[in-house]
Amino acid sequence: MTALSLTINGRAHGPIEVRDDLSMNDFLREVLGMTGTKFGCGAAQCLSCVVIIDEPDGTSYTNPTCVVPAVNFNGRRIRTVEGHAAGGTLTPLQTAFIEHFSFQCGYCTAGFLNEGQVLLERLAATPIPRAELEKTILEALDGHLCRCTGYVRYHQAVRDVILAEPARYLLAEAGAGAETAPPLTGERR
Ligand code: FES
Ligand code: FES
Repeated sequence: MTALSLTINGRAHGPIEVRDDLSMNDFLREVLGMTGTKFGCGAAQCLSCVVIIDEPDGTSYTNPTCVVPAVNFNGRRIRTVEGHAAGGTLTPLQTAFIEHFSFQCGYCTAGFLNEGQVLLERLAATPIPRAELEKTILEALDGHLCRCTGYVRYHQAVRDVILAEPARYLLAEAGAGAETAPPLTGERR
């Protein structure tokens, strides 16, 4: 047994005594009653069970919970699907998923939502050229399995959120602003 303490969606939990072999998925669902994180394959293959890990340096990534002991999350800050909407207001990505009918049974949705949110935050910190957008979304969502085959719609929803605020997520197109560029040092006009 280990005393587990961690922060989930900004709220501190623990210390809670857990078995060392208790998976993080079972901890969330069975101990805390947070059933938004799903259990699919149980073999780190479908990614339906991922949560967001927030690092102290401000970067984030997703991690499966089905094959990882809960004690491995001791001291970590994580986000789950329950932490996205604030005060009942959906995030732009949640709204886009609904508008695109991205999910059918919804089993994979929490994983796609967490992955898409991590991508949005990464692009907000490090914008990319527009030409790299399709490939970047494909790579980010790669590995998430949807038995209802909503892949294209998830992709379109993420793309819509990004293109709704291109200045936030994408680098300015080459040549943009050239007419307002200041003269070079020593340049005569
Ligand atoms: S349930 Fe964890 S990866 Fe499938
Ligand atoms: S919506 Fe059913 S598994 Fe993706």
